[in-house]
Amino acid sequence: MHRVVCPGSFDPVTNGHLDIIGRAAGLYDEVVVAVLINVTKRSLFTVDERVEMLGEVTASYGNVKIDRFHGLLVDFCATNGITAVIKGLRAVSDFEYEMQMAQMNYRMANVETLFMTTNPLYSFLSSSLVKEIVTYGGDVTGLVPDAVLTRLRDRLGRELGPVRTQQGIMRGSAKLGLPRAAGRLGGRFRTSNRHEYTVMPNRHTNAPRGALAFDLRTLGRQAGSARERRLTVPAPDDLRLELARVPVGAAVDLELRFEAVTEGVLVTGSATAPLVGECARCLAALDTSVTAGITELYLYGGTERDEEERYLDGDMLDLEPAFRDAVVLALPMSPLCRDDCPGLCVECGVPLADAGPGHRHEPAPDPRWGALKKFEDQPTGRAGAVDLQEG
Ligand code: PNS
Repeated sequence: MHRVVCPGSFDPVTNGHLDIIGRAAGLYDEVVVAVLINVTKRSLFTVDERVEMLGEVTASYGNVKIDRFHGLLVDFCATNGITAVIKGLRAVSDFEYEMQMAQMNYRMANVETLFMTTNPLYSFLSSSLVKEIVTYGGDVTGLVPDAVLTRLRDRLGRELGPVRTQQGIMRGSAKLGLPRAAGRLGGRFRTSNRHEYTVMPNRHTNAPRGALAFDLRTLGRQAGSARERRLTVPAPDDLRLELARVPVGAAVDLELRFEAVTEGVLVTGSATAPLVGECARCLAALDTSVTAGITELYLYGGTERDEEERYLDGDMLDLEPAFRDAVVLALPMSPLCRDDCPGLCVECGVPLADAGPGHRHEPAPDPRWGALKKFEDQPTGRAGAVDLQEG
């Protein structure tokens, strides 16, 4: 019996995978589709779910068997009496890594690798792109089997999970980026991309999370993988110093980049918020904005945690504390309505900017000169003589 293994992560299986599996099934007596159990790689679907989906979508072939493995592929091959691996090649970019693995597998255990060129209909297709597209409400019909499409929508459409608060389960507000306050109100929101999301509480404080909580499931843990987000969130309370503050609920524009690095996720970007308060020189109302830079590393973390560091909570990243720190640090201690604000007149208190450059006061006369003036005006007996005794 000629048996071949088709290994992969299949998170989830796409029509590109299915094309290779189906064509391999026409060439071999049996195709074993082997799902890699990889505990270090974040996945959207569990291995059981992936195996189940593969089983459903290959049921019609009759000679396709679904299995799972961990460790080396060559060990799985030895255990199952398999001498060849079949792989789909989408583009030249796949080739280098695939060839390296193929040669290594041959070097280790004489396991052959056969490359099958992908149907051009699917040469651009990958499981990670499919997940990203569904996350943002795009349509992947025709790119994955229907059974997978339903599960993808179901899983990514409830990406943030149900909320458990002191009041019980709270079906919360909407998609990433909707106001945190909305999450607190527990209202339902229909978002433009048809999905309804919920807000999740912070696991440690039980506080509802919302606008500044990000689900990084689709980022993965592959160092170098990155996502960018631009969003506008309502300003939380307490972004203030003595003379300047960001009004609660004001629109804060965020430009963020999430990048997977070896030890966690690096967040870089900026927050631009409206700023109100008083000019430290002329006390006029401020109407300006503040931009804060954000650079923060969130560690994956294990059981031992350092209080000085910030950590991811599973796949969730709660940016709010770092966002607050960055914005408050960027607030000016002595805000000015304009860089060259001349301040107030020390004599009469009018804003000098309004009073204009000609604003002046006669110097106040010294009271002692007043006494002398009195003598000046008196007729004197002797010309030019002043009797100081009198005054
Ligand atoms: O779908 P993927 O994630 O690209 O599949 C990669 C897979 C599972 C085929 C590859 O990572 C693999 O064979 N892993 C098993 C571990 C192993 O044998 N490593 C040595 C390769 S030379």
